[in-house]
This record gives sequence, C-alpha cells and structure tokens, in this order.
Amino acid sequence: MIYHFDILPSTNDEAALPKYSEGDIIWADAQSSGRGQRGHSWESQRGENITFSVVLEPTFLAATEQFLLSQVVALAIVDALKYYGIDAKIKWTNDIYVGDKKLCGILIEHKLQGSSIARTIAGIGLNVNQVEFSNDIPNPISIRQIKHFEMDCQEVLERVADSIMTRYEMLRKDNAAQIRIDYHELLYRRDALHWYFLPDGRRFRGTIRGVEPSGALRIENEKGEERSYLFKEIEFSVKNITKLF
Ligand code: BTN
Repeated sequence: MIYHFDILPSTNDEAALPKYSEGDIIWADAQSSGRGQRGHSWESQRGENITFSVVLEPTFLAATEQFLLSQVVALAIVDALKYYGIDAKIKWTNDIYVGDKKLCGILIEHKLQGSSIARTIAGIGLNVNQVEFSNDIPNPISIRQIKHFEMDCQEVLERVADSIMTRYEMLRKDNAAQIRIDYHELLYRRDALHWYFLPDGRRFRGTIRGVEPSGALRIENEKGEERSYLFKEIEFSVKNITKLF
C-alpha cells in the first residue's frame, strides 16, 4: 500500500514505525530532514522529485547477506529507468548514475534480529523534474534534464516500486547469483582506470574489478595488486589530497 504525505521529516524514519509492513511505500512530497549516505542530508524540491521508502521484511536472508538488498534496489531502479530509455549505471555502493551525474540516491537501513534481518527500509531519492539544484550538490541530474520532458511523479514511483518488488522476489526465489551478475554488469567505472581517494587524503590510480558478496569494492592498483575496500575506506572524488603514492 502507498502512504502519501505532504511533508515528513524523513520517509525512512516514518517507514521504521511498526505499523508498516512488507511492501508498504511511504512517499512524501517534501522532507524536512531528508537523510543521505555518510551522514549527508538529502535535498529535493517539493513535489518535483520522488522521495520515498519501501518496507521489506527479508527474514529469509542472513545478516551477512544484507548487501544483496542494496543490489536488488539499485538494479530495480536501473530496470525502471530502462523503461524510460535511460541507460543508468550503479556507482558503488548504490548511487544511480547517468554518465558522470547522479540521478538517484539510495539509503538502505536494516534492523537486525540475531543473525537475520527483521526489516529493511530502502529510502529512494530520484530526481524527476527538478532542473535547478543548489551548488552544494556535486553532480546532480534529473530525468527531465535527460529526456527533455516532464514526468508524472506518481507514475515513476509506481514503476520503481514494482521493479523493486520484482527484483526482491527474484532474490526470495534464491536467485542471488543472478542479482550479483547483473549488478557486476552495471557497475559504474568497472574495468576502467581512474583515481581513487583514501580517507587520509592519499590517492591512487586503480581499476574497479567488482564487489565481494560482503559489498566490499575490489580495486586493482597499477601494480596489478587487488584489494577490497569497505564503504568508508575509499572515495571516488577528491576530498583533500595531502600525499601521493
Ligand atoms: C544518498 O545518495 O546519499 C542517499 C539519499 C537517499 C535519499 C532518500 S529520499 C527518501 C528517503 N528518506 C530519507 O531521509 N532519505 C532517503
């Protein structure tokens, strides 16, 4: 069921309330404290984009397999965009990119119960009709900027939500291997040499080779050595470079 609000602090926080259950969608035209990854906020112009959260109860998955849910949601958004003729890629871990611009952000939050996952909230911010963005947002793009026409937000939301449930059913039916293959195929910058940045400011050139089932990103350096990086261990863009190696 879709619950539509005019404004909420954050759809992810609303979706965490026990009154919602698997498959419910919490959609708000505006958020007063929209949250992004790495402690950032999420800005979106009222009514121009879609900001919503899906409630999942993936009790069939072990906590160690939680990255599959990130993969499912990212793939579902790429699937939905394909319907509109948009060729998107997944920037690890789960930003949706078109070219070098970000079209959609995903914030996945899990509630664990022992060694399994009791509830997952998948929060999605997809830029639909917005054409002016604040300078603080590094490289945004919207569907309208790509396709040059306005879209009906509810229609896009319903298509994305359907795609999420389709990919989620694929996972439930034990098709994790296919999910991993599809994610690998769509990985932004895979097999191409780029600069990467470490939290201490150092940088190196390397090539993304894939992701571990845990979600860690595999990058091969110019010496041909491969290493896996966890979420906070690597950046795609420059912060403050102090040393080179
Ligand atoms: C990111 O790229 O940093 C993730 C952004 C996620 C934004 C969405 S908007 C709907 C949901 N509610 C939130 O507070 N955040 C997510």
